[in-house]
Amino acid sequence: MTKLLLNTLKGNLSDSVPFWFMRQAGRYLPEYREVRSTCPSFMDFCYNPEKACEVTLQPIRRYGMDGAILFADILVVPDGLGQKVWFETGKGPQLTPIIDQKTFSGLSLDGFDAKVSNVYQTLRLLKNSLPDDVTLLGFAGAPWTVLTYMIAGQGSKDHAAARQLGYKNPYLFESMLNMVVDATAEYLIAQIDAGADAVQIFDSWSAAISEKKFQDWIIAPTRAIVDKIRKKHRETPIIGFPRLAGAQYPNYVKSTGIDAVGLDTGVPLDWAKNYVQSLVPVQGNMDPHHVVAGGKSMVMEANRILEALKDGPHIFNLGHGFVPETPPEHVALLCETLKNFRR
Ligand code: CP3
Repeated sequence: MTKLLLNTLKGNLSDSVPFWFMRQAGRYLPEYREVRSTCPSFMDFCYNPEKACEVTLQPIRRYGMDGAILFADILVVPDGLGQKVWFETGKGPQLTPIIDQKTFSGLSLDGFDAKVSNVYQTLRLLKNSLPDDVTLLGFAGAPWTVLTYMIAGQGSKDHAAARQLGYKNPYLFESMLNMVVDATAEYLIAQIDAGADAVQIFDSWSAAISEKKFQDWIIAPTRAIVDKIRKKHRETPIIGFPRLAGAQYPNYVKSTGIDAVGLDTGVPLDWAKNYVQSLVPVQGNMDPHHVVAGGKSMVMEANRILEALKDGPHIFNLGHGFVPETPPEHVALLCETLKNFRR
């Protein structure tokens, strides 16, 4: 059976447009909340192959997306490097901040694979339980986005701590970037070994970075990861998602060598068609809040996006992940709209 999503990532066009959604497994689904309630620690949940496999499958069973994304978190990588990571209700992710040579010296690649190996087991379970036509997606955070959490010790609005450390102590910052590049490449290669058909690199915080630093902090580390993966897995598509990268999108695509790119909600579609989709397949980009609102306006917006990108390879997705207040029946209506669309 052919995998429509995987085929599209390889640049092929078909009559219908494949779709999946960022955060398609998550708190908007009652069946997710039920499994989640059996695991007080979010990290333990990510490292529980049976439960992680189950919540990955939930949206596929309910809606029949073309892609299933591994249930885990981008903060598995710092955890695997030995940084303490935990989640607090209402506060989001918390980490012991890495701010100087002393705190950095507590991290190491030794033992990384062993620490995160349950994630690979989740993928092996998924490989055996997914329908043949569903593409299995692995993922990791991009080094810059992951470093914003590692350095601030939590989510932050303008990523001040990471930016300032990068300017003040470029040597330390680069050592940290290099370690995260090595861990992320190892992690994604192992995910592909375990059965991922494609992988996505989430650079959620690549907004408003100066030209020079976009090169050093976003492009160079992503390129390094792409090169390492390609040495081992030449054919596996790699999706980049440089969220809010604006006018840097075409440069990001050309310079990183990724195979497909996720568009955030703000990217104009005519522009994307001419300057991005002409380079690689694109994915995106509905505002997740449209799905909270639902109804006719959501359906019209889905059709506008589908029409605008129909002449080239396109995977329908959101411009950022589902929010917890999304009504599941709105997702059902969106999926029905997408399944009925023909080029
Ligand atoms: O369905 C999927 O998309 C797959 C699983 C997935 C999760 N996180 C599960 C999750 C993926 C791909 C991620 C990526 C991720 N995690 C990113 C990049 C994408 C993005 O959203 O920009 C980032 C920045 C994180 C870090 C993170 N993890 C945050 C900011 C939060 C929210 C904290 C909160 O309390 O609101 C998480 C937690 C998280 N990761 C949840 C899920 C379903 C919700 C936590 C829960 O169930 O208690």
